[in-house]
Amino acid sequence: MLNKVSVIGAGAVGSTLAFHLFSRLPLREIAIVDIATGLAKGVSLDIEDTRAFFDSSTQITGADDFCAIANSDIVVVTAGITRKEGMSRQDLLKINAKIAKDVSAHIKKHAAQAIVIVVTNPLDLITYIFARETGFERNRVFGMGSSLDSARLLNILHQETKISTSALEAFVFGLHSNDMIVSSERMHAKGEAINKFLNKEEIKKVQARTALRGGEIISFLKNKSASFAPSFSIFRLISTIYEDKNEIIPVCALLKGEYGLNDLCVGVPCFINRKGIERIIEIELKEEEKEKLKKAVELIKEINNV
Ligand code: APR
Repeated sequence: MLNKVSVIGAGAVGSTLAFHLFSRLPLREIAIVDIATGLAKGVSLDIEDTRAFFDSSTQITGADDFCAIANSDIVVVTAGITRKEGMSRQDLLKINAKIAKDVSAHIKKHAAQAIVIVVTNPLDLITYIFARETGFERNRVFGMGSSLDSARLLNILHQETKISTSALEAFVFGLHSNDMIVSSERMHAKGEAINKFLNKEEIKKVQARTALRGGEIISFLKNKSASFAPSFSIFRLISTIYEDKNEIIPVCALLKGEYGLNDLCVGVPCFINRKGIERIIEIELKEEEKEKLKKAVELIKEINNV
C-alpha cells in the first residue's frame, strides 16, 4: 500500500503536483520540502484548505527540513532552477547537478526505500546523478521526461488531425530536450500509420512543434517554464504506481545494455507498476532512430564533460 509521497521543491511544478495528489489520491501523507524558508509550509496550508471540497483525509505538511520526507514510498524531485528564455537545458546542468547531489544525500538518509522520480532539468543527466548518488536499484530511480513529451505530441497530433487523443497512439523517446526522437513510425491512429492521415510536410510540422514545445512555452512565460502538463505527467506516473496498473510509459531510465547502451539515462518505453520500472521495453528501432539515439548519447557525453 502506498502511504506517503514527498515532493521536493515547492515551486510551480511541485506545488501543482502536491495539489493533484491531495485532491485525487487517498494517500496517508504528502510532505513538501523546499529550501526557501516558509515556502513549502505556505503551499501546504493553502492546499490543506481545499480539504472540505474533496473530503480528503490526507495529512499534508510543508517544511524546509528534509526530515519531513522520512519513510516516503515515493519522492519526487522538482528542486532546482528553471530554464529561462534563451537558456538551454544544458546550461542548467552545473547549478542543478550540485542541487541533485545534495538532495540525493538527503533521500538516501531519510527515505532509503523510496521510488525516486526526477523532474529537474536537464533531465537525462540529473536522473543519472540521482541513480549514481543514491545507488538505489534502477527500477526505483527514473525521470519524468519522455512521458511529458509524448503527451505534448498527442496534443499536437490531435490539433493537426482532429482525431481524438483516445484514438491516437504515439510516443517520444530519447533525450528530454530539443533532440528528442519524435519518429513518425511511432504515431498511429486506431492502429493505422499516421501517414494515412497526414502528409510528409504535416508530419514534419508535428515533429518540430513537439520537439520545440517546452521552449515555445518559455518564450511566452519568459522567466518560468511549463508546470501544468509536467505536474500532471508526474501525477500520472504516481497513480500508475499507486494502482499497480502495468502501464507502458516512456520514462528516463538507467540503461545497462538495453539498446546497446550502458551506464546512462535516457527516455525509453517502460512497463510501470508498483515496483516502479518493472521492465525496460526494447522496441525494434528503425535505422534512422538508431542514428538519432547514437547522436543523443554523444550529446550526453559531450555535455557531461562540461
Ligand atoms: N532543496 C530543496 N528545494 C530547492 C533546492 C534544494 N536544494 N534548490 C532549489 N529548490 C527549490 C526552489 O526554492 C524552488 O522553490 O526548487 C523550487 C523550484 O521551483 P520553480 O523555480 O518554480 O521551478 P519549477 O517550474 O517548479 O520547475 C522545477 O522542473 O521542469 C523542471 O526545468 C524545471 O528543473 C526545473 C524543475
